[in-house]
Amino acid sequence: MLFDNLPQAVSIYEVSPRDGLQNEGAQVPTHAKVRLIEALAAAGLKRIEVASFVSAKWVPQMGDGEQVCTMMDREEDIIYSALCPNAYGLRRAQQAGVEEVAVFISASETHNRKNVNKTITQTLDAFEGVIEPAVRAGLRVRGYVSTLWGCPYEGDVDPEAGLRIAKHLLDRGCYQVSLGDTIGVGTPVQTRKLLELFLEHIPKEKIALHLHDTRGTALANVLVGLEMGITTFDASVGGLGGCPYAPGAAGNLATEDLVYTLHGMGIETGVDLAKLWEAGQVAEAVCGRDLPGKVHQAGVRSLAK
Ligand code: HMG
Ligand code: MG
Repeated sequence: MLFDNLPQAVSIYEVSPRDGLQNEGAQVPTHAKVRLIEALAAAGLKRIEVASFVSAKWVPQMGDGEQVCTMMDREEDIIYSALCPNAYGLRRAQQAGVEEVAVFISASETHNRKNVNKTITQTLDAFEGVIEPAVRAGLRVRGYVSTLWGCPYEGDVDPEAGLRIAKHLLDRGCYQVSLGDTIGVGTPVQTRKLLELFLEHIPKEKIALHLHDTRGTALANVLVGLEMGITTFDASVGGLGGCPYAPGAAGNLATEDLVYTLHGMGIETGVDLAKLWEAGQVAEAVCGRDLPGKVHQAGVRSLAK
């Protein structure tokens, strides 16, 4: 029966300071990014992607990763993570003192080439300079496999191709692969089929879901994931987010919507929803525009007067 099989607790991997902000047109000042990260930490989030050590020519918004990492207050029980495409990115991440890096690659050739200017094979080669050296240096390494539910350039994507990449990343030393619905096209039956395939080959603890909510289907896909034993979900406060090299990629699943739903189902997250809502207000102030998250807009719970 539906919802017979729910986990007691879920781990949330917060991506708003990176995936959330990377697509913002106006440059967000470093101190404002730091304010957002500290508000997220105060809400109880324990895994936060705070920066991106990619080329500032490609993603200008992320050009201040080192400064962000230097300026932010760090809590001992929080894992601060950063996106990292190559050996140069790893050196920057190590100097900035993050304890985790995240490599990223697409399951579709065209998106991968547009995003990192390399074929999938060349990208995996570049990861030789990241994953194992990082693990040897004591860092945790996470891997993203993007465009699994659909590619903005190619349309349907072969799940087997994505699975081969995910297995490769885990074999090389990633502790987890985050499966990306980069442009938010996924629907529940597709998600079930995709996860059935992946779970045949990869233990459920090693899989996370990274769902953009472009078409309002992210939470429905989370429910499928929960039922199938997935316990890590990526999310972004206020529903902030997008990929500059994926036209049509709107915000990520909003963290408040995820936490509200999980708590309502009796699933623990360790997050204080009221404080998270406040962090969403910070995100909105930092971006200077309304954010799309539903709980962000409606409030945690409002009673009629
Ligand atoms: P390239 O131009 O092919 O790289 O870019 P290159 O190796 O030929 O180097 C060119 C220049 O970039 C050189 O500088 C390098 O030093 C510099 P120049 O000599 O011209 O002054 N460079 C770097 N600078 C800083 N940090 C680095 C770095 N590496 C090279 N690490 C590259 C290749 C990967 C660098 C580029 O394509 C890039 O930065 N792409 C960024 C893509 C990106 O950040 N996309 C958004 C994140 S992915 C995403 O959002 C999806 C996700 O959320 C999951 C999902 O939703 O599915 C993760
Ligand atoms: Mg993303």
